[in-house]
Amino acid sequence: MKEIVIGFLGCGNIGCGVYRLLETHGQEMAANEGVSFAVRRILVRDPKKKRGWEIPSVLLTDRAEEVLEDPQISIVMEFMGGEEPAASYIIRALRAGKSVVTANKMALATHWDEIIAAARESGAGLYYEASVCGAIPIIRAMTDSLQANRITSLMGIINGTTNYILSRMSREGADYSEVLGDAQRLGLAEPDPTADVEGYDAAYKLSILSSLAFHRHVPVEKIYREGITGVTALDVACGREFGLTLKLLAVAKEENGSIQARVHPTFVPDSHPLASVSDAFNAVFVNGHACGEMMFYGRGAGDLPTASALVSDLVKAAKADHHSLPAVSSQSVFMAEDWECVHFVRMLAKDEPGVLRDVAGRFADEGVSIASMVQKGKRDEGGYVQLIFLTHRASEKHVRRALERMDGSLAREICVIRVENE
Ligand code: HSE
Repeated sequence: MKEIVIGFLGCGNIGCGVYRLLETHGQEMAANEGVSFAVRRILVRDPKKKRGWEIPSVLLTDRAEEVLEDPQISIVMEFMGGEEPAASYIIRALRAGKSVVTANKMALATHWDEIIAAARESGAGLYYEASVCGAIPIIRAMTDSLQANRITSLMGIINGTTNYILSRMSREGADYSEVLGDAQRLGLAEPDPTADVEGYDAAYKLSILSSLAFHRHVPVEKIYREGITGVTALDVACGREFGLTLKLLAVAKEENGSIQARVHPTFVPDSHPLASVSDAFNAVFVNGHACGEMMFYGRGAGDLPTASALVSDLVKAAKADHHSLPAVSSQSVFMAEDWECVHFVRMLAKDEPGVLRDVAGRFADEGVSIASMVQKGKRDEGGYVQLIFLTHRASEKHVRRALERMDGSLAREICVIRVENE
């Protein structure tokens, strides 16, 4: 039986989940896989802190070099999270010839080139299944299962916190802030929820996923990002009347040699497989030229689901004779600045003769064709009423331009939500 000596960087919920999984399932896994693991050193901030799983105190250290420079440790598992010092530690471990298993999407997305270069130089392995969608084997699918495909698009619900919030808003007609407060009380959202609700977490994951899908590095700063903080119960309810469900989608498509990558609130038809992905679940819907459409579904967060992916990577790293690097070229990628989709547009418009003609005229002037329209509810005190439009597929730029030309006397409080219906 091959025994591999490993070290941990960090030991919060995820680290404890990995330790627990190795302790409770390690023997069975060793019998199945022919490899066992000995945890030698665990870097923590405070060795005295009480943890969610009993960990022998002799393993704990607050000195990173005891993990990074120990010659017996051949695989380093990183679950500190955040950009630094995690990224520097990952690079140091790789340069020292130690393979790295990480769940850290932020460090990977923001230091992709340096991390890959460090792995390439030393020949050490880099494994990151847990960085995108927790337990769902989507990275493995991209790198090991779908190579025969040209991936044309992927759309994912890759942030569980926002999916929980939007699912409850949709089910209960509740407001964003009310559900966010509940999610924070339940520990599903962080006390500072910015990374999740503003779409940063999803953008890091999309950078990794789309780079693998299109074999070119899609830098996170080139991803269009819009969070869910502006979403109202009214928009969710109006969408439902059109047979649409609201999700925070990460969308990446390759069209005519350019790549579009974006994270924003998106309506999908109720009949789309992604519409049924509720609460904190994640899913990625992939379209490949040979495989056609497929959807990967499961738990994207949590200690054991994330540990499941990390330990799987650990086994893979331990058994590899040769570590493959992602088939991603570092050449600069041509990112689309505009894209076409159906747009849901809600506005408060003056309820007077000719207003609808003028509003429709602004769309027409930009070549945006309207597919349907409803007027909703009663006039407010100022004489305004809710108008909701669904456009045919139209360029984002043209829709924006049309809306910029609607002055306040015509319409105000304009809200635009993209619709992905393919
Ligand atoms: N905060 C993330 C989510 C989980 O809500 O999906 C870790 O990536």
